[in-house]
Amino acid sequence: MITIALPKGRIAKESLELFSKMFGEAFAFEDRKLILEQGGFRFLLVRSQDVLTYVHYQAADVGVVGLDVIEEYQLNDAIKLLNLHIGKCKVVIGSEVGKEIDYQKPQIKIATKMPTITYKHFSKKAIPIEIIKLYGSIELAPLVGLCDGIVDIVETGTTMQQNNLKVDEVIMESSAYLIANALSFYQKQKEILDLTKKCSALGLQ
Ligand code: PRP
Repeated sequence: MITIALPKGRIAKESLELFSKMFGEAFAFEDRKLILEQGGFRFLLVRSQDVLTYVHYQAADVGVVGLDVIEEYQLNDAIKLLNLHIGKCKVVIGSEVGKEIDYQKPQIKIATKMPTITYKHFSKKAIPIEIIKLYGSIELAPLVGLCDGIVDIVETGTTMQQNNLKVDEVIMESSAYLIANALSFYQKQKEILDLTKKCSALGLQ
């Protein structure tokens, strides 16, 4: 049995659709259940930031996690197996339409739920910023004067558009990867490689 940690939301849904395609049967969590056992797999439904933790402690053998999350929380010892080409999004710098971030100002405030990526990006450019850590609804922050700009995820672009924000710069493109705990990979190599091959045979782009 392989235990797979999936991040709640769109990526879990798309991951289960992949399994449905691979095995020709529907894979879906029941109502509010957080564990699904089917087809020799045990799926766990966790917060996206927690996938790496479940895999690190081998509570899950395998996980599906966005490259943005890997960058933000560091991959530590997990093995990156395959780009699944699902959960595509971009990490961007955004600001209000009609306004430019004034990088000449002594201290620019950037609101984000991704402080590591934000810090690295602005350090590389030698731009001093103050990071304001938020946990969600990042798009609200510049509208009420909490910050000059944001670093956030854009999927469809609808949230930014509806809140009168624009993309100033793309920091990184992201999609979800299949990762494995190193010890699990050693102990269950055949099953994990078999799963990786099956995913890769779907030829996702
Ligand atoms: C993410 C992200 C944006 C939104 C982008 O938030 O932080 O707010 O999705 O999606 P869009 O480009 O398709 O509109 P999420 O839904 O994870 O909620 P959050 O506010 O809890 O971060």
